Amino acid sequence: MPDSDTLIAVKPEIAARARVDAARYRTMAEEAARDPEAFWRRELRRIAWMREPTRIKDADFTGDVRIRWFEDGVLNASVSCLDRHIEAGRGDQVAIIWEGDDPGTDAKVTYRELHERVCRLANALKALGVKKGDRVCIYLPMIVEAAVAMLACARIGAIHSVVFGGFSPDSLASRIQDSECSILITADEGRRGGRAVPLKANADEALATCPSIRHVVVVRHTGAPVPMRAGRDLWWHDLCAEAAPHCAPEPMGAEDPLFILYTSGSTGKPKGVLHTTGGYLVWASFTHEIVFDYRPGEIYWCTADVGWVTGHTYIVYGPLANGATTLMFEGVPSWPDSSRFWQVVDKHGVSIFYTAPTAIRALMREGEGPVRRTSRRSLRILGTVGEPINPEAWLWYYRVVGEERCPVVDTWWQTETGGILISPLPGATPLKPGSATLPLPGVKPAIVDGEGRILEGATEGNLVLLDSWPGQMRTVFGDHARFVQTYFSTFPGMYFTGDGARRDADGYYWITGRVDDVINVAGHRLGTAEIESALVAHPKVAEAAVVGMPHDIKGQGIYAYVTLKLGVEPSEALRQELVAWVRKEIGPIATPDAIQWAPGLPKTRSGKIMRRILRKIAANETGNLGDTSTLADPAVVADLVANRLSA
Ligand code: WT7
Repeated sequence: MPDSDTLIAVKPEIAARARVDAARYRTMAEEAARDPEAFWRRELRRIAWMREPTRIKDADFTGDVRIRWFEDGVLNASVSCLDRHIEAGRGDQVAIIWEGDDPGTDAKVTYRELHERVCRLANALKALGVKKGDRVCIYLPMIVEAAVAMLACARIGAIHSVVFGGFSPDSLASRIQDSECSILITADEGRRGGRAVPLKANADEALATCPSIRHVVVVRHTGAPVPMRAGRDLWWHDLCAEAAPHCAPEPMGAEDPLFILYTSGSTGKPKGVLHTTGGYLVWASFTHEIVFDYRPGEIYWCTADVGWVTGHTYIVYGPLANGATTLMFEGVPSWPDSSRFWQVVDKHGVSIFYTAPTAIRALMREGEGPVRRTSRRSLRILGTVGEPINPEAWLWYYRVVGEERCPVVDTWWQTETGGILISPLPGATPLKPGSATLPLPGVKPAIVDGEGRILEGATEGNLVLLDSWPGQMRTVFGDHARFVQTYFSTFPGMYFTGDGARRDADGYYWITGRVDDVINVAGHRLGTAEIESALVAHPKVAEAAVVGMPHDIKGQGIYAYVTLKLGVEPSEALRQELVAWVRKEIGPIATPDAIQWAPGLPKTRSGKIMRRILRKIAANETGNLGDTSTLADPAVVADLVANRLSA
């Protein structure tokens, strides 16, 4: 077992030419803390403004909660990501490298070509009546059109809401309904690991309950025949062929919305996390540059899907704002075989590679062979995101993939934070395997106890942020009260992350995972309440309780306790039916790993399910269930323990 406090020094060859070395990090952190106005007044110039802001920051975490950055600034995000690179003479540089699911398929799109494609779609959307502030839903596979669609919305001031292509028709429908999108952009099919994903068919099913959608724009990707409803459904290529290749960017206030992205919380339906234009883009550009030590000319690859925030900030907005060449991969790490990631690295000369711990653990299980038979000489920086990384997986990534040459940046952040908040900087921060290390300049984390008291020094507790940063979410779309309630009521005056963390004697942060009822399955965030409501929607289910359980590859698996309706007998067939039901209701990412039949659930006398006990049973920590004396019926616990599944 590696010592989790192993310290890996900054590599002199990285530090020597790094964007930020140790001394610079200290200066930046110190200035951002002492005089944030001056710090951000300088940093905001990294993006293009139509009118440079004079007001920098206006944030209050108390009362109604107000978060505003660069408020009187005017800009258009697509200009920073496209026009200014062309104006600077880099129009012929590749903006996006697309690597298809099939190893033989790829494409390169220059900044000039991307600009034209964005403008054409922007004009097409305008012709369909889309105006500033309207919501457009994007339900696409990992193809260049996904980035084009996002930027085209930004171009005309429409708010995009990207829904991950793996979500079910029901999940898609509820997201469209919540933000009342007027247009849906999708494709005939997606392709992943040699299999087709029926996006248009899913969309058609979803739209049966989405009256706000006026038109569906369909990308022909695989060429599979799909029904097109006359008057409603339109082919992307027809619309764009007719549209003009220039489109003036809509002037946007810095606090005008850029996008909505739905994410799961501990209660209720997924929330529409709202990000605005100026602060988000500054944060995306700033963090992409300093965390990945990005420099012009480098090929950068983030393996996430654009359906998640990682894809928004670190495939599209951050890299394109910085004029990078960003790689978009349609496939999966294991297909055609588990060398695929490293083959793509060699094929395109990738120098910065950013992926999730779950992928690393899955590849680690296949042994070193699939890695060793590739060169990976171009790699310089490795990154991880999405969940805590265990030191073994960290060290394997560092030693086997990076051959001890590439620093590993373990980046902690959330959909809500817009971009990375806690992470090493490659040229500045000595590394500890398993630790996200230190806050970025301008980030003020703290650890508090259950009563919200700030704990000093080496300690463990709840991770909060004491002050705002430009990339912070501004509200929950359509429900500001829920925003205040979710993030600012547990510890008044502080932003509560929902994560637990430990801080060691060196001030390094170690994220220990969610402390609320959110589970993290293979880096995908799911609310236990969502899975429970999917289960109880089944006609044979009376009650359900869902908890996370430790899982070797996925980090956490889904463990469901199900009480059937009176007279319904448990069976293997019913178990399979419920698994299929949840997949259909939410999507394959919510597939339960274990379903235990529970004659009763452990509840307090007031009827609250004691999840603490259910978590322990699922984790097989039944020797220490804690105090069960407050349960209405302590006998149910013995039954659950006796019938626990070893999934
Ligand atoms: C939750 C946020 C941030 C983009 C991907 C996930 C967990 C994220 C780390 C990390 C430990 C991490 C946290 C967080 N998480 N990165 N480096 N170490 N945990 O975004 O779906 O909004 O999930 O992911 O629990 O709260 P998300």
